[in-house]
Amino acid sequence: MKKLSLLLTSLALLNASYAYAGPIEDQIKYRQSAYSFIGWNTNKIKSQLDKPETFSKEDVIAAANAIAAAANSGLGALYGPGTDQGEGWHKTRLKPEFFQKPEEAKKVAIAFNLEANEFAKVAETGDPVQIKAKFGKLTQSCKACHDSFREKDPK
Ligand code: HEC
Repeated sequence: MKKLSLLLTSLALLNASYAYAGPIEDQIKYRQSAYSFIGWNTNKIKSQLDKPETFSKEDVIAAANAIAAAANSGLGALYGPGTDQGEGWHKTRLKPEFFQKPEEAKKVAIAFNLEANEFAKVAETGDPVQIKAKFGKLTQSCKACHDSFREKDPK
């Protein structure tokens, strides 16, 4: 039993598709929820940077850690085959191009992951100037994926 679970663990590390993600509509739901949560935390940071009098180091760190945790949770597992069609909380906006250009998809996903982790480190400094600069890099990594792989408007 121990051997089997070890094997399953290493398989999961090698290939995200072994991670639990559930049927297509669940994957889309989890995906939309994850990005919605990421979006909320991004907006919290943006509003504090826009209104310096509301800036709180602790709040920015909490939001940055939430984004990094979501980025590190293995979102790739929620991009199973067929998830460019169907309904989660609403119709998916994932473009079929995601599956047609796997190299580019991997590149933007890895870039986002790196930026999310880097941003969490910079948030710890509590320095709004450094945080603002790194936040720009983070949101560029969101945009890179959205521009290529997310429908502009709901389908
Ligand atoms: C690897 C690609 C990728 C990255 C990186 C990415 N997104 Fe997205 N995002 C998507 C896709 C695809 C959808 C549409 C999901 C669906 O409808 O199935 C989406 C949807 C969203 C949504 C709408 C959620 C909903 O209710 O449907 C928000 C908000 C969002 N993203 C914010 C962000 C922010 C902020 C970042 C960066 C901090 C980010 N995303 C990074 C691909 C990405």
